[in-house]
Amino acid sequence: MSKLIVGLLVVGLIGLSYLVVSPAPANVRPAAMDDHEALEKCMKELKGAMRRMRKSLGDEAQKGENLAQILVMQKALIEAKSLVPGVAAKSEKKDEMILKYRGMMLDCLAATIKMERAVLDGKGDEAKAAMRELQELQDSGHASFKVEDD
Ligand code: HEM
Repeated sequence: MSKLIVGLLVVGLIGLSYLVVSPAPANVRPAAMDDHEALEKCMKELKGAMRRMRKSLGDEAQKGENLAQILVMQKALIEAKSLVPGVAAKSEKKDEMILKYRGMMLDCLAATIKMERAVLDGKGDEAKAAMRELQELQDSGHASFKVEDD
């Protein structure tokens, strides 16, 4: 066999083994580094939806729009709940922090459910109370996880 053919075979085999070994299964969770960007995206979606409801929440004429924004928040919270904040990943108390984070995210989700029920029932004051609850959770969550708000 000529050196060229042997060479091509070697290169081909290396390429083939790379293809067999390298692709990660689709369900592998991204590394902690990726969680940072994904979490930022969720938080921005939350913020945007809360901002868009600033004036409309409690307004019966904007019920449909408010319900749409509540869904945006719930989707973002479900996604965020599965992620690990960078500060927790790097902490010595990682497990404890992840549980705390998970609990606070669940409290946020519960507040959006209260808000949704209130909007559906046309109870503007209750919807606004749920929004205040979310804002308080944001403040205490960001204080616990050392997020600087702008
Ligand atoms: C419910 C209302 C909340 C809103 C609107 C909100 C909004 C935001 C925003 C705008 C950021 C900055 C994203 C950027 O870098 O541009 C952020 C970051 C962050 N928030 Fe929230 N947040 C909320 C609740 C919470 C709660 C309850 C927690 C903790 C349990 C939390 C934990 C974090 C963490 C850890 C980051 C940093 C993400 C990273 O850069 O890795 N947030 N949030």
